[in-house]
Amino acid sequence: MSRLAMKKEDTGYETDYDQIGSRFAEVGEKWRAKRIMVFKNGDPWFQGWEMRFVPSRDTMDNIYSRISARFGSLGVHGSDLSSGIRYIFTTDGTRVKNIDDLVEGSSYVASPTSKFQALTSQAHTLTLTSRAFYNTELGEYEEYATQLFGFDKLLPMNTGVEGGETANKMARKWGYMRKGIPQNEARIIFCENNFWGRTLSAVSSSTDPTAYTNYGPFMPGYDIIPFNDLAALEEACKDQRVAAFMVEPIQGEAGVVVPDEGYLRGVRDVCSRHNVLFIADEVQTGLARTGRRLACDHEDVKPDILILGKALSGGVLPVSACLANDEVMGCITPGTHGSTYGGNPLACRVAMAALEVMEEEKLAERAHHLGKLLRSELSKIPSDAVTTVRGKGLMNAVVIAPGLDAWQVCLRLAENGLLAKPTHGDIIRLAPPLVISEEQLLECADIIKRTIQSM
Ligand SMILES: Cc1ncc(COP(=O)(O)O)c(C=O)c1O
Repeated sequence: MSRLAMKKEDTGYETDYDQIGSRFAEVGEKWRAKRIMVFKNGDPWFQGWEMRFVPSRDTMDNIYSRISARFGSLGVHGSDLSSGIRYIFTTDGTRVKNIDDLVEGSSYVASPTSKFQALTSQAHTLTLTSRAFYNTELGEYEEYATQLFGFDKLLPMNTGVEGGETANKMARKWGYMRKGIPQNEARIIFCENNFWGRTLSAVSSSTDPTAYTNYGPFMPGYDIIPFNDLAALEEACKDQRVAAFMVEPIQGEAGVVVPDEGYLRGVRDVCSRHNVLFIADEVQTGLARTGRRLACDHEDVKPDILILGKALSGGVLPVSACLANDEVMGCITPGTHGSTYGGNPLACRVAMAALEVMEEEKLAERAHHLGKLLRSELSKIPSDAVTTVRGKGLMNAVVIAPGLDAWQVCLRLAENGLLAKPTHGDIIRLAPPLVISEEQLLECADIIKRTIQSM
């Protein structure tokens, strides 16, 4: 007997305990009660009941189909990370290719094992410390990332939306401390059809009823202007209470909407002239996805606050960050913002490994080259089936012609071995992992062409 407490199941006492589960019994589930004894140092220490919920097959199917609502009737039970594209195994054992890795943030999860070594070796060493202390990994990661992206400081968080929340807080604080905005009057400008997550602030700035309906009252101080409209931005920035403009360089969830060439340069110019912070939400577009390290690099502009997430850990665990220079970051003083897990050593080690993979494997160049190839292949689909092929690097979408249903196309694609996801009705996003091989990419393009043309 181990010196630690161990549980011994006394199977003789196992009983069905239907009355406790009566609410569930109607749908075929039941609770099982098991008598358990816990031993400590070899002696009985505790006796009691362990309640276990036994779902019916029906319920299991519901769970699977909820997990896999995006894939129709398919459930997912594993994946093969050994090669460029990620293969997903469905519940019936079929192997399908996933071309929507971006949404899970796993831009390069299928890369060689360095990140996983980083994960497992760090997991054995140190995973979490209080932010009241420095840890061995955080500083090294902060130094590496700030130098790579050219900012003074990095503030680590976990999910993408926390990155956005942090940027909003930084902007408001900067507005009061540096710009002289009267207390509680700071405003932040967003674009129509923006998406930056699911928190109350994020849905307060959303123009999508699905995201905000029934979640009021909403966060005050948000203004909405059209995307890709510099005149509207200029007008909105005239309000002296505006602290920041937060924008996705390419709108992802809206359906990979690429603004006109020069838009980001224009944004930089307008924001600088009006002393308004330019916040670039690069949670989707960043980290080589669009064929450059950052989407802002396409126009050689530097935002005042850069938000990164998703692929920052290569799809391994939630890691996000805000980067800014001292004049902005300096407004956040110790104790005024933070997160238990933000900057934990495990996340820092994995993020650093992910950034190193991005650099060493020249993923931006790969994305640029492969993206051009993908768009050129998809452009061969007749316009009565696909009206538009758009995107940058490996962040692309096709717009399905009226008469065809994007959801049905995705179901058919799944049957043909390719997982993809419609974004808005008629748009299908195509964002394969950045480590996909050229051969695999052409195979995906071929499945898409054949599938759409057969419908
Ligand atoms: C541009 C953008 N920002 C922020 C987020 C939120 O990220 P997370 O889901 O990790 O909170 C998303 C999520 O899709 C996103 O697309």
